[in-house]
Amino acid sequence: MDHQQMALIHILSWSTAIILFVVAYVMIKQNKVEKPIKIIQMILRVLYLLIVATGADLFFRFYFGIQSEFFAESVIKAVVGVWVIAAIEMTLAKAKKGKKEFSGWLQLAISLILVLALGFGRLPFGFLP
Ligand code: HEM
Repeated sequence: MDHQQMALIHILSWSTAIILFVVAYVMIKQNKVEKPIKIIQMILRVLYLLIVATGADLFFRFYFGIQSEFFAESVIKAVVGVWVIAAIEMTLAKAKKGKKEFSGWLQLAISLILVLALGFGRLPFGFLP
């Protein structure tokens, strides 16, 4: 599989995850029955694996062990990518328990902005110029 296809799976995985996150969140807020929410969360966790696997593949292809001026930023991109996933999980968990969600949302906003800026804006490979 070439890197364009890998990047496409990466993008499709995280965009689907964000959509399912919103769906699960709205369902939690509407007090829907547990079961379908659980199923969405299971799908979300499979998507996390895909996101990390495709992200790691891109990382090892483009940055690991290769002289690149973007090495540091690519490591930050990967760490912040995992942070996005953690923030999604945290926000859903807080919503489920009826706890304050602000810290979850704040982390999600910061990490998402960072990862999109690094992925689309800074790092040289992938789709957008
Ligand atoms: C929900 C979490 C994540 C989001 C929203 C995200 C977002 C992005 C975006 C927007 C790009 C640029 C794609 C393109 O231009 O084609 C990208 C590429 C990349 N991502 Fe992620 N990512 C996430 C998680 C991860 C993780 C966990 C890793 C590492 C384990 C990772 C590693 C990479 C690498 C190495 C690239 C290639 C960078 C380049 O364009 O040169 N990402 N990601």
